[in-house]
Amino acid sequence: MKNFDVYPLFNIEPVKAQGSYLWDKEGNKYLDLYGGHAVISIGHTHPHYVKALTEQLNKIGFYSNSIQIPLQAELAEKLGKLSGYEDYFLFLCNSGAEANENALKLASFHSGKKKIISFSKGFHGRTSLAVAVTEGASMQAPVNKTENAIMLPFNDEVALEKAFSNEIAAVIIEGMQGVGGVQIPTTSFLKKIQSLCEKFGAVLILDEVQSGYGRSGKFFAHQHSGIKPDLITVAKGMGNGFPIAGVLINPKFKAVHGMLGTTFGGNHLACAAGIAVLDVIKEENLIKNSETIGNYLMENLRKAPGVKEVRGLGLMIGVELEIPCAEVRNALLKDHKIFTGSSSDKNTIRILPALNVTKEVADIFLKAFTQVLSKSLVK
Ligand SMILES: Cc1ncc(COP(=O)(O)O)c(C=O)c1O
Repeated sequence: MKNFDVYPLFNIEPVKAQGSYLWDKEGNKYLDLYGGHAVISIGHTHPHYVKALTEQLNKIGFYSNSIQIPLQAELAEKLGKLSGYEDYFLFLCNSGAEANENALKLASFHSGKKKIISFSKGFHGRTSLAVAVTEGASMQAPVNKTENAIMLPFNDEVALEKAFSNEIAAVIIEGMQGVGGVQIPTTSFLKKIQSLCEKFGAVLILDEVQSGYGRSGKFFAHQHSGIKPDLITVAKGMGNGFPIAGVLINPKFKAVHGMLGTTFGGNHLACAAGIAVLDVIKEENLIKNSETIGNYLMENLRKAPGVKEVRGLGLMIGVELEIPCAEVRNALLKDHKIFTGSSSDKNTIRILPALNVTKEVADIFLKAFTQVLSKSLVK
């Protein structure tokens, strides 16, 4: 059997990783400014994380959600404290798409309604409802298309007001759009969504799968705007590479046995990974580091040649170039051994390093980036 060929691959095979660095099987050292797709929050193979997972694996790795798993309560308590959502409940699952699927389902259970509003350039995952509210025809199979999904232009308050009615079950929006090229919702837009949701009895879902867990310089990106969503979804940085995701749920939602469920969600190993990540984020003050190094990077990226716009908060940065970015990313990888991310906007590079990235690493990247851009623009 062979693997189903759905990913365009770089011909690089990393065999070792530490902090913000990777090594391939030939011993070449790479700088990871992409964080393995915004997943690496506390740095590759962080010693506290490795120890916590190893110790847990030696005790018990998995048992089903039919028994007591106190690690789930510890994780929920620590997440509530660090994020400022102590009164919310936590439902644990395994991936970003699954978290959004469950949030959308909960919103429909709660409101008794079906229609979901989402926004252009948004990305919420590839399961049936998550992909239905995601922009991108090539990802939607005929069975995913539904008249319950209403896609509106991003940051457009007039279109939003016009589309709202009593039929809306939920609005789903990313804290900051990632795949869409790091687009930030305005505070005014988020506040408008919140007030329309309140007025029409709809549920506000913040997809913080990519922008959450300290990446934006606050625990959640929406906390820059002072809104309070009904449901918040988390994944990527939550397990630093171990598959774990969750939905933070306002206490007004009523839990009923059997309404949600998963075999693997909240297993012992996943919880050990999730707890270790929260402990390190807190102990090492990584949310502050995200803000400090993020601001430093953005300030200097704006000075680089051929940069049209730099968008972002903390360590979630989109650099829009005057030229398509594929060639620039390839040169960074080939000539400087630096991984960066792409986006659905062909001119925008995404920078998503580990939250403990240092100023020294930022400087190495800035120097290489300026060199590559100067060369690309001369051609
Ligand atoms: C904002 C957002 N939501 C949801 C997802 C889907 O997450 P997963 O790939 O874990 O299903 C992603 C993944 O890139 C994402 O960026």
